[in-house]
Amino acid sequence: MRKTHHRIANFAAAAALTAGTVRCASDEAPAFPADYQSTYTKMADCKKSGSHTEGPYVVSWISPGGVAAWKARTTLPAGSVLVKAQHSDAACATTLKYTAMRKDGSAWTWQQVEGDRTVTNSGDIGACTSCHTPCKANDWVCTSP
Ligand code: HEC
Repeated sequence: MRKTHHRIANFAAAAALTAGTVRCASDEAPAFPADYQSTYTKMADCKKSGSHTEGPYVVSWISPGGVAAWKARTTLPAGSVLVKAQHSDAACATTLKYTAMRKDGSAWTWQQVEGDRTVTNSGDIGACTSCHTPCKANDWVCTSP
């Protein structure tokens, strides 16, 4: 019994270390390309967000591989990327920050990204998932097609 626990603890530590290496935010690239506005599909037009408070106006975008599943309201395939750009103005012209979600295997990796594309936080971020919980039945995606 004790031996089993020990082994599980070691495994957890190894998994945590691996995750730490993968998720080192400072040298990680944003999940979305710099030209996302010409390569991604707009999920919703520029609007005032009631939730993401850093930038009061937002536009959400989805990568080409995720569009069909999003429109069908089914589980998004691995590799899908969603980005919500946060803007200071009602025309959504000036970008302040981004939040992004990338499907890695069957789980989402959540990212917080500065306007200059510096990744400041990445991984299974509790603040993101707790607020997206009402959208869990829709694969954690809150914007309806
Ligand atoms: C206070 C609640 C709240 C928090 C915290 C939050 N979100 Fe959201 N998020 C929403 C809502 C609601 C939407 C739907 C669009 C809207 O109304 O702004 C959304 C939309 C998004 C979208 C566009 C796709 C979609 O689901 O509609 C992405 C990407 C996203 N959020 C990522 C994140 C990330 C990454 C974090 C953490 C860094 C985060 N969110 C934290 C509530 C939240």
